[in-house]
Amino acid sequence: MGLSVVILAAGKGTRMQSSMPKVLHPIAGKPMLQHVIDAANQLNAEQVVVVAGHGIDQVKAELSAQKVVIAEQAEQLGTGHAVDQALPFVKSENLVLVLYGDVPLIKTETLKSLVEQTPKNGLGLLTVKLDNPQGYGRIVRNNNDQVVAIVEQKDANQDQLLIDEVNTGILVAKGTDLNRWLKNVDNNNAQNEYYLTDTIAMAADEAGVIASHPSSAIEVEGVNSRVQLAQLERAYQLSQADALMQKGVTLIDPSRIDIRGELECQSDVLIDVNVIIEGNVSIKTGAQIDANVILKDCVIGEATHIKANCMIDGATIGKDCQVGPFARIRPNTELKDEAFIGNFVETKKTVLGKGSKASHLAYIGDATVGEKVNIGAGVITCNYDGVNKFQTVIEDGAFIGSDSQLVAPVTIGKMATVGAGSTITKDVPSDNLAISRTRQKHLEDWQRPIKIERKEDKK
Ligand code: UD1
Ligand code: CA
Repeated sequence: MGLSVVILAAGKGTRMQSSMPKVLHPIAGKPMLQHVIDAANQLNAEQVVVVAGHGIDQVKAELSAQKVVIAEQAEQLGTGHAVDQALPFVKSENLVLVLYGDVPLIKTETLKSLVEQTPKNGLGLLTVKLDNPQGYGRIVRNNNDQVVAIVEQKDANQDQLLIDEVNTGILVAKGTDLNRWLKNVDNNNAQNEYYLTDTIAMAADEAGVIASHPSSAIEVEGVNSRVQLAQLERAYQLSQADALMQKGVTLIDPSRIDIRGELECQSDVLIDVNVIIEGNVSIKTGAQIDANVILKDCVIGEATHIKANCMIDGATIGKDCQVGPFARIRPNTELKDEAFIGNFVETKKTVLGKGSKASHLAYIGDATVGEKVNIGAGVITCNYDGVNKFQTVIEDGAFIGSDSQLVAPVTIGKMATVGAGSTITKDVPSDNLAISRTRQKHLEDWQRPIKIERKEDKK
């Protein structure tokens, strides 16, 4: 049987105090709603229908590139009403799995086992036992321990309030069955809402309800405030940190790493505190990442050392390299093996050849640098004339003296030397020394300026 996933995401999220719909607030850099959609996609759902209401335009814009149907629920009349808005878009012979845009940490395995356990023509319900069930719908079971109904907190009697098994809200049933049951749901209750949970008693009467459980309560926790958002963020980050350590990565403090994307690490990688990972990052064996480094869409080679406070974005860094501290490596940088980038060096669209060095305070952009080149402190490739960008080529073994400007397009030949403080505008042939500064003069009768006394100064 095919699977359709319906994600409820129409609520306002008043307590977020935000102009952005709650479900678009991020966990690990990704909207909560997207986490839920990703879980649905991992189940190979045939259809994903998002029920949106508050901030629907923002939700639509966020999901515009995805194969997701958006059903509008203009007025939030309850969870049953919300599912009802989605059903016209759902293949009725499919199984329908109901998820929530503000319950972002739900695991695919939990959902798989829920779907598998769902009885034919019955309903599968995800429930959890909580020390404090306050606020949740309670799971009512009969003497045979079978689920017979859900009663909401506001409608529960004293005995029912003692029940510690609660409804997560997540459930599965056939589209045709849900549709039929929802037709019989009314809003005669404490909140005057159409409760999705009222379908449970109907399913129990017809064919039975099977309750299954998540591996931990955090999976089914919802977000209503920024405090809860931060709690789930840390829980998610800790679980990613655990997974890394299981694979042989040393984290100096697992509570101080943030992975907002995909991080793939080989063994014996060491990551110090406050490292942020974005996009797709791959770190090879034995590499070391020091404190306060931001790595985005990059590859860090074997045994390479990224020192503190570097930003690396869109780069491929080879093995045995050293980068930083305080280096900025921008998109389309390639550092070949054993390259050395020191503090306050910025690179962009640049290949730095094997064993080449830029140790301090340099800007190297739109450049191709050969092997064993030495780029002195304060060297700048002047790649931009205000309108166009041009290339700088520095061939193997060249030495660029400190504080030189290489005005592109320009080529520095093999083993050439540029004297410190030169402005190079013409190609330098191999093995030559190029120097473009005025000769040093000495003025013997030079006098230092003398302080001019002014009346005001005396006051
Ligand atoms: C619901 C369940 C309760 C369960 C709890 C788990 C019902 C009646 N109750 O209660 O048994 O223990 O979730 O958190 O289902 N939503 C819409 N449209 C609506 C109403 C809600 O999209 O008209 C969305 C909300 O944005 C929210 C979710 O559905 O994400 C849950 O709605 P909410 O009103 O918070 O339900 P609870 O009272 O928490
Ligand atoms: Ca809720």
